[in-house]
Amino acid sequence: MQSDKTFATRFGVIAATVGSAVGLGNIWRFPYECGANGGSAFLLAYIGFVIVLGIPVICAEFVVGRASGTNVAGAFRKLGAGRLWQSIGVMGITASFFIMGFYSVVAGWCMDYIWQSATGFGGVASQTELHTRFDEIVASPLRPVAWTIAFLVVNFMVISRGVQKGIERISNLLMPLLFVILAVFCVNSLLMPGAAEGMAFLFKPDFSKLDGDALLSAMGQAFFSLSVGMGALITYSSYFSKKTSLVKTAGITAALDTLVAVMAAIVIFPACFSFGQEPAAGPRLVFEVLPSIFMSLPGGQIWGTMFFILLFVASLTSTISLSEVVIACMEGEWKMSRGKATLIEGGAVTVMAVLSSLSFGALSGWTIFGMNFFNLLDFLSSNILLPAGGVLISIYVGWVLDRRIVSRQLTPPGHTRSVWVAPVSFCLRFIAPPAILAIFIFGLL
Ligand code: PHE
Repeated sequence: MQSDKTFATRFGVIAATVGSAVGLGNIWRFPYECGANGGSAFLLAYIGFVIVLGIPVICAEFVVGRASGTNVAGAFRKLGAGRLWQSIGVMGITASFFIMGFYSVVAGWCMDYIWQSATGFGGVASQTELHTRFDEIVASPLRPVAWTIAFLVVNFMVISRGVQKGIERISNLLMPLLFVILAVFCVNSLLMPGAAEGMAFLFKPDFSKLDGDALLSAMGQAFFSLSVGMGALITYSSYFSKKTSLVKTAGITAALDTLVAVMAAIVIFPACFSFGQEPAAGPRLVFEVLPSIFMSLPGGQIWGTMFFILLFVASLTSTISLSEVVIACMEGEWKMSRGKATLIEGGAVTVMAVLSSLSFGALSGWTIFGMNFFNLLDFLSSNILLPAGGVLISIYVGWVLDRRIVSRQLTPPGHTRSVWVAPVSFCLRFIAPPAILAIFIFGLL
């Protein structure tokens, strides 16, 4: 019998990995980062980072995960790596907590908006009313906290069911659904009055906007959206069978992830221009722009409900991979049962999430480096921990790990050395580490 610690089918591998990658990062974060950083030039920089940094680092994580067959805390030790490399595990666990801390708050807002769309936003009509409503909702003391906790309960219920019955089953079901719903929205969006302006904003590059800050954001976004740099993909690939082609899985994941981000932008920007709204509105963008589209459409309540269900689904398959990083460590390193690990991790994440939810209301006066707790968690994870993890993982797989292991892992069974071994290794050795470091320094200055 196959153990529960591997994905059962090839479709399951893709669904789970793409499920991890595709999430709020694509549909909520990408459009507002793109909007705030000049639109199309950001998109081009982003795609460049996905190709030269993203795909090679995904491959590197896959190599470590499948070669070691274990969680982030144990993987580097098992491959014989020293303490420096083992610290990637500690950084990964920290990043998992930080990301869960703000991500589940946004997922909670999505659940709230499912309910609100279904009830027609209580008859609210104007843009100003939608704006005020978002402010009121996120700042209220109980409502967003309750939704966030509801989201975390669903997340940890799925995860407690294990790899095949929990993660794989839910991803197989939900990921195809997500593509269908998003495609319907794209078609609708291209028929809107602001479609031409929206498309020009997204596809006609204005390089004057691409400064160090924008480049750091594009790189951080690429890491965040592809789920690389913190071991989520190390953990998942430890569940891959020997037959899974790593390079192909990395390529498909990056391509589908980018496609969903571009589709989300195609849904959002025409709507912005049709309704005279700022593409640079920040985290509130999808929560404000989209309800105005829904309300203007026949059957808007159904559209709106579907859209926020889609966001909820996308978030769930990502938070599952984020929490699995820590749960796999607790099971593997500290020999805890899955149930106990889920409870402890769930409790710790809930504390972070409640604090970050309250940082829009009761705790909004509490800022660190000028950021509230929510923004601080986002900044530290996407722009610091993930790129730092990416540098270390690239150097480890590019320079330290035995090249025979790398080559064997990157070559599908039954083949002699894959043609991809050389270009992937080249990027990991010579491109990823200096490029990530340079952008990092340039962006932080
Ligand atoms: N990639 C996910 C998204 O785009 C977020 C994520 C980051 C998931 C890191 C796992 C690890 O929403």
